[in-house]
Amino acid sequence: MVTVTRTYEFSASHRLHAEGLSDSRNLDLFGKCNWVNGHGHNYEVEVSLSGDPDPVSGRLADLDAVDKVVDETILTPFDHRHLNMDVPEFRGVNPTSENLTLVIWNRLAASWDAAGLSGARLHRVAVRETPRNYFEYYGPNAPN
Ligand code: NI
Repeated sequence: MVTVTRTYEFSASHRLHAEGLSDSRNLDLFGKCNWVNGHGHNYEVEVSLSGDPDPVSGRLADLDAVDKVVDETILTPFDHRHLNMDVPEFRGVNPTSENLTLVIWNRLAASWDAAGLSGARLHRVAVRETPRNYFEYYGPNAPN
């Protein structure tokens, strides 16, 4: 099995605020991410595929097809947007990078086969929010 990872970037704003917590606890927990009018991040996203290379082409997947599905489902709808307001999955859901990682996985998984990528498995989604924060998801069937 081979893993191939492709890297992308987008910029978006968000506000992290948990309705079930007090204002002061939210500020403690989320810091500047709790600012009332939101603030921005330059997100880096890694999308990893795994499987066996095609015996004819020697490639695991058509990377143009990977770029296209990432562009259509993630970059175009997220880049230079406000995640809380512009991404339906975050209506009532805190757009933490943990949740962002899950949303990106779910969007890619839903479009994977239609994008012509059924020969490879979506293996991992990683989101870097800042140089010190890194979030990863290996899918609902990953071993704990
Ligand atoms: Ni933030």
